[in-house]
Amino acid sequence: MSYRILMITSEAVPFAKSGGLADMVSALSIELYQSGSDVRILMPLYGFISKEELKLIDPNFEVSYKNYKENCALYEGKLPLSKIPVYFLDSAKFYERNGIYGPTASSAYPDNGLRYSLLSRAALQLGKRIDWNPQIFHSHDWPTGLNPVYLKLSDKETSSSKCASVFTIHNLGYQGRFSMRNTPWAGITPEIVHQYHFEDQNRMNYLKAGIENSDMITTVSPTYASEIQTKDFGHGLDPILSRRSKYLKGIVNGVDYNDWNPEIDKHIVPHNYSLADPDGKKALKKQLQKEMGLEISTSKPLFAMISRLVEQKGIEELCGPGNGVLEGFCKNNDVQLVILGTGEKWCETELKRLGEELDNLSVTISYNDYLSHLIEAGADFFMMPSRYEPCGLNQLYSLKYGTLPIVRRTGGLADTVQAPDKEDCNGTGFLFDEISPEAFLAALEKACSYWYEKPAIIEQMKILAMEQDFSWGPSAEEYLKVYKEALTIASGK
Ligand code: ADP
Ligand code: GLC
Repeated sequence: MSYRILMITSEAVPFAKSGGLADMVSALSIELYQSGSDVRILMPLYGFISKEELKLIDPNFEVSYKNYKENCALYEGKLPLSKIPVYFLDSAKFYERNGIYGPTASSAYPDNGLRYSLLSRAALQLGKRIDWNPQIFHSHDWPTGLNPVYLKLSDKETSSSKCASVFTIHNLGYQGRFSMRNTPWAGITPEIVHQYHFEDQNRMNYLKAGIENSDMITTVSPTYASEIQTKDFGHGLDPILSRRSKYLKGIVNGVDYNDWNPEIDKHIVPHNYSLADPDGKKALKKQLQKEMGLEISTSKPLFAMISRLVEQKGIEELCGPGNGVLEGFCKNNDVQLVILGTGEKWCETELKRLGEELDNLSVTISYNDYLSHLIEAGADFFMMPSRYEPCGLNQLYSLKYGTLPIVRRTGGLADTVQAPDKEDCNGTGFLFDEISPEAFLAALEKACSYWYEKPAIIEQMKILAMEQDFSWGPSAEEYLKVYKEALTIASGK
């Protein structure tokens, strides 16, 4: 099976990234391309993306729908180390800014509704401009949730297209709700919002638009696919997801092992390591301790976390004032901790304070790609106490780097990390169930006690972790099946 696929996205590595969505889109595209599909990507040309290596293919690319018109430009680049074309929608008015969604990690631009409706609409006009017609319009998360709606609307205009829409939910916690007062936005009127069922208490809801109007819906792990059909995880959309469950599929994300593999990771040269030759990890632990200003020690377990600092990630359980586990865990145990992240202000402030107070805790509040690789490689344990986690990529990276994940049993974390059984066999990490500081602390202490009291088991777990294979191949196959199904559905309409 091979298809012409257009990925429509707000993020893709290496051009723009705020989280795992960016990794997923690029890695899946590469895998699909390698298995024979003609995959291309459309994304905004944000102000921080250099135009140097891009080709201007249309200085007057007009994006329009009915009375709405916006003058844009179109650039073309390539996904590094591949021939995959990446089309960049350029608009000084909407995209030439230093942030993706907002000026900081915890704020949003007021015109995001319009910025991303423009992108979703542009996807339909791209084909004509470059003389290439996608069979699959694959859009991702709320920013491109309107794409399936525009597709339906254009079907009505031309009644010719034999193409299908696939919408991937990466995170139900972000829905893109916008007031309808300022419509028409890229041609969307309150009547359209109503007719295509993405009204949400007098606002438009872009995620809902994608879920209601795409031919097939996917999300990024099987467990999350079932969780989001329940009230606890549905963020208000569980009734719709249950109603459309026939069209919803959970496919676990893979890893781009060209980027995240200790054997070839360019960020950890010259200490690259592997299962057969594991010594580099020890040197990298020392390097990490040195760079983070921690005591150089091989005997103490080094725990790490790299995360967007938002409620989803369990920051309340980590360092919520008065009940977070971090301070007590650092004070009462012979351990070291490294935390890298950005996000909610209170959490950044609290972490910085604790980092200054505690000798065995190093906190870096920034977005740092190099450091994220060094941490994965140099740490012993990786913490993900997520309240919910659609897939999670860091636990997958951690497994490959022999850094044992300590995770809450939810979403993709439950699907990819195994606890040791009663005989202490077959474990690749430590899991806990309840959303509570106590449950998280118990898991941390369990890992700590294994480190000191059962070092042979830890070694065994590391080996099994590094042997896990989450390459994209099998998951990309699943996407091909979804594309096939979507086309069947679309052609039956
Ligand atoms: P999410 O997409 O919900 O943030 P994932 O685990 O899927 O969670 O992906 C997070 C990605 O973002 C990982 O590649 C992680 O390394 C990266 N990341 C998050 N915060 C930072 C940071 N402060 N610096 C560098 N990389 C980060
Ligand atoms: C989202 C989710 C994360 C997932 C990523 C890529 O940001 O929070 O769990 O791994 O998307 O699909």
